[in-house]
Amino acid sequence: MSVSQTTIDEIKSRIDIIDVISDFVTLKRTGQHYKGKSPFSDEKTPSFIVFPRNQNFKDFSSGKQGDAISFIMEYDGLSYIEAIKYLAKKYGIEIVEEEQSPEAVLKQNERESLFIILNYAKDYFKKTLFETEEGKSIGLTYFKERGFTEETIQKFELGYSLDQWNALETEAKSKGYNPDLLEKAGLIIRKEESQYDRFRGRVIFPIHNSTGKAIAFGARILKNVKNQPKYLNSPETDVYHKSDVLYGLFQSGRAIRQMDNCFLVEGYTDVISLHQHGVENVVSSSGTSLTENQIKLIHRHTENITVLFDGDDAGIRASLRGIDMILQQGMNVKAVVFPGGEDPDSYSRKLGALDFQQFLKENAEDFIHFKTKLLLDGRENDPVKKAETVSQIISSLSTIPDQVKRAIYMKETSNLLGLEEQVLYAELNKILISQRKERQKEAFREQPIQLIEEIEQAQQKESFDPVVFQEKEALRILINYGFNQIENEYNLFEHYLEELNPIEFSNPVYNQILDIFKEELNKGSVVDVNYFINYPDQKIQNEVINLTSERHEISENWERYRIYVPKEKDVLTNSVYSNILRIKFHKIKKLIALNLEELKNETESVRQTELQKINIELKKAEAAFSDPLGIVVS
Ligand code: UTP
Ligand code: MN
Repeated sequence: MSVSQTTIDEIKSRIDIIDVISDFVTLKRTGQHYKGKSPFSDEKTPSFIVFPRNQNFKDFSSGKQGDAISFIMEYDGLSYIEAIKYLAKKYGIEIVEEEQSPEAVLKQNERESLFIILNYAKDYFKKTLFETEEGKSIGLTYFKERGFTEETIQKFELGYSLDQWNALETEAKSKGYNPDLLEKAGLIIRKEESQYDRFRGRVIFPIHNSTGKAIAFGARILKNVKNQPKYLNSPETDVYHKSDVLYGLFQSGRAIRQMDNCFLVEGYTDVISLHQHGVENVVSSSGTSLTENQIKLIHRHTENITVLFDGDDAGIRASLRGIDMILQQGMNVKAVVFPGGEDPDSYSRKLGALDFQQFLKENAEDFIHFKTKLLLDGRENDPVKKAETVSQIISSLSTIPDQVKRAIYMKETSNLLGLEEQVLYAELNKILISQRKERQKEAFREQPIQLIEEIEQAQQKESFDPVVFQEKEALRILINYGFNQIENEYNLFEHYLEELNPIEFSNPVYNQILDIFKEELNKGSVVDVNYFINYPDQKIQNEVINLTSERHEISENWERYRIYVPKEKDVLTNSVYSNILRIKFHKIKKLIALNLEELKNETESVRQTELQKINIELKKAEAAFSDPLGIVVS
């Protein structure tokens, strides 16, 4: 198969990389370029940059870079041709290509062949639904009874599989498709002697990947047959990993970004019904309990998830754990509970579009509130119940990475439970400390105990040296916010270079990291933490990772001394300013101490006078730095 060069040229001339990538990643404009969270790795600080001027992207966390076409290829594991086809479809460009023979299909690599055969099957099921007697009278009738409109059926590409053993197989073979591939795609089942279609006499729900290709199917039975499950799903295949896919994401992605919220429901029918009732920002983990990867998929589009629960207590309790995983990724979670016996599908049909949307709005409750109330179970005055609830809620809160957000929740929880915040913090600290120990144990598991003690001692000593502490802080700011501009004029790093020139840290590893910064800067790029994550030098790698993970502890300390305001990003200019002053201030203090030491031991009077002069100069400088810092020098 080949797509004509003119088609490719036309596509290239029509695409806008911002537009293409925005379908998958939330991009924010920052100066000349756009920035977002890497779709190729899990990250908290965005390091995925798109450059509209030369129509390129660069992902600093994975090192991937390229144009819009290579983005689509990387994002969905597509071949060049498949990516071209996707873009052609997006921009309504007609593809001129050579007719594709089944033999050619066979020759293509297997993954691509799986896509082709799965999408052939999807089209076959659709056709069966609309064009066969059985499809129309059984499948279509069923969908219509459920209230699905023709438009909805098309949007989700619903289909029907005939109630025969080999309908799909026969049809596919006659078209030249390879039976081995049908099996590998999970469409037919082979036993010793016999082979038969997996889906028979069922309505079909194709599961799409993010570019809209069918990669698997869910199929609902319509008759009441004993020993037959209500829903059958495709098995795991080379192109379908259940735990990495969300049903409805292809159809809902845009709305999720627009609404900046994602509703999470249980199954196929809930997703479709919500769409039908005007709520298009909805996905389902279809049957499995929510996985970390699925949360990451949502996180690419929004920070906000609203979980819709059926009104059944046991089901809610079972999913509480999964929700802590969402909190852990720093996302905001709300919950809506439906009245007893109702699910999102049935209730949206019952209320109709407007009332249903109103219901969601009015009943979305912050998850922590929701969980507290659920656990208290109306027994606010029972001390045992209350104690249990406290530890479970605090364990949820301990997973929230953002310290400011956590503090707000702590306050609310304290109100909600009528308990002193101090009590809650005591509980929180217990959990955090044990988590930290756990992490340390893990990190050091392969290292001898002696080394752990050494490291701990070194860490303690370091924090007593204010210069090292401030230098560390400078590096921490650089690593976490290297991309940020100060006053829209300076690159943060260039600012540091200028201010602390010659910049020389007391810790040799810090200097090495600094050198890397400089080197990269000379090449025209600013590195951040992602650059160091797989850095070959273990010492450097560890130091950088420490600097990022210590972020909260450091700002906690600073806050206690009223130096930092909580939202660091917003006050970055101040932080940088104060950090630079502090480095200089503490360095001068060190120099003063050295100078005085020398003076004490000096016996020669000319030199003594000289040193005294220097002392006066240094004292002046000290005052110059201490004044703006509000430090009183004794
Ligand atoms: P339901 O049992 O409500 O399915 O499960 P339904 O098709 O809406 O059936 P009725 O009409 O209410 O009786 C809700 C969702 O749970 C998933 C499906 O995604 C379904 O849409 N599910 C349910 C399964 O994956 N497997 C099952 O066996 C049952
Ligand atoms: Mn249902």
